[in-house]
Amino acid sequence: MLQIGTQETFVAFKRVAAVTEIPESRGLRVRVGELEIGLYRVGEGYCAMDNVCPHAGYPLCDGELEDSTIMCPGHGWVFDVQTGLAPGEVEETPLVRYPVRIEGDDLWIDVDEPLKP
Ligand code: FES
Repeated sequence: MLQIGTQETFVAFKRVAAVTEIPESRGLRVRVGELEIGLYRVGEGYCAMDNVCPHAGYPLCDGELEDSTIMCPGHGWVFDVQTGLAPGEVEETPLVRYPVRIEGDDLWIDVDEPLKP
């Protein structure tokens, strides 16, 4: 466990992958406890988002990633991995996203503190 922050702002991250494991045009499926999460490279950064498509449960990270949007391999629904929303949607409930930290060659995420919509 990597410990970041002061005692007052203590945040716990878990190592989930090496940066070299993230494919160019897809995501990488990782598990943290019961959670299945997709990890994506977007530009020089990384995003982590729930991996189960809300339509019928296909693994989103197996779809095609273009810029920051992933197309579900099931039936083609599209989500922005930076927002958790379908492009153009603002009133839907987004997929849960998690903070990602890069430490050396490793990626760490904090599933206890999901990003705010
Ligand atoms: S399961 Fe993802 S679009 Fe149908």
